[in-house]
Amino acid sequence: MNLILLGAPGAGKGTISKKLVDTFNIVQISTGDILRKEVQAESEPGLSAKKYMDAGDLVPDDVILGIVEKKLLSDECANGFIMDGFPRTVTQARGFAGILDRNNMSIDAIIELQLDDDVVIKRLTSRRTCSNPECQAIFNILYTPPESEGVCDHCASKLIQRSDETEDTIRKRLDTYYEKTEPLISFYNGNDFYYAIDADRSVDDIFTEIEQLLL
Ligand code: AP5
Repeated sequence: MNLILLGAPGAGKGTISKKLVDTFNIVQISTGDILRKEVQAESEPGLSAKKYMDAGDLVPDDVILGIVEKKLLSDECANGFIMDGFPRTVTQARGFAGILDRNNMSIDAIIELQLDDDVVIKRLTSRRTCSNPECQAIFNILYTPPESEGVCDHCASKLIQRSDETEDTIRKRLDTYYEKTEPLISFYNGNDFYYAIDADRSVDDIFTEIEQLLL
C-alpha cells in the first residue's frame, strides 16, 4: 500500500504515520526526519538544509526529489510506503508523479489531516522529540508525555525541542504551508482516493477513521 499524508506542520502526520507503519507493515518516508538526520551528521546536504529549516522555509525541490527517489528505490519500500511531509510543492508533486511512472508505482490513498492554526501552535510548542536520529519518537508534554520526564520511552535518549519549534518559526512554517503547500490540495483533491480528515480529535479516533478507509 502506497500513501501520501498531507497537512500543516503539527497536524499529526508523524504520529499517524508511525501507527500506519505498525498496522500495514509499510515504511514511513519522512523528508523532515531524513533531513534532521543529515543535519545531525553535519553532512553537506544537512548543512545546506539547516538554514532553510531553522528559518521555517522549504528546502529546494531538487534536493528533496533526489532524497525521495533514492529512498523509494531501496528494498525496504518493497511492501509500500507512507509519504510524510512530501510532496510539499506542486513542483515536488509533478516530480513525484514522474518518479512513480518511471518505476511502475502508484498511490492508493492521499490523506489530508485538517487542523486549525491555534491548535497547531499549542501542539508544536508542547512537542518533544527523541534526539536519537534513528528513533525520532514523538511525545507531547500536554497530551502524550513520556514515562520519565525528558527521556524517550523507546530508546532512553534525551528528548529535545526541535530548533524550528519556537512560536515565531512555527508561524513562519504555517505561512510557508499556506503559500507553497496548500495549492497541493487543489492539485490532488479531484482524485477519488483523496480523503480529508478532521485532525482535532484523539489520535485513536483519527487512526480508526483512516484504517476504515484503507481496509
Ligand atoms: P517536517 O519534519 O516534515 O515538519 P512538518 O511538516 O512541519 O511537520 P511536523 O513534524 O512539525 O508535524 P507533524 O504533522 O508530523 O505532527 P506530529 O505528529 O509531530 O519538516 C521540517 C522542515 O524540514 C520543514 O519546515 C522544511 O524546512 C523541511 N522539509 C521537510 N520536508 C520537506 C519537503 N518535502 N520539501 C521541502 N522542505 C522540506 O504532532 C505534533 C505534536 O502534536 C506532537 O507533540 C504529537 O504528540 C501531538 N499530537 C499529534 N496528534 C495529536 C492528537 N490527535 N491529539 C493531541 N496531540 C497530538
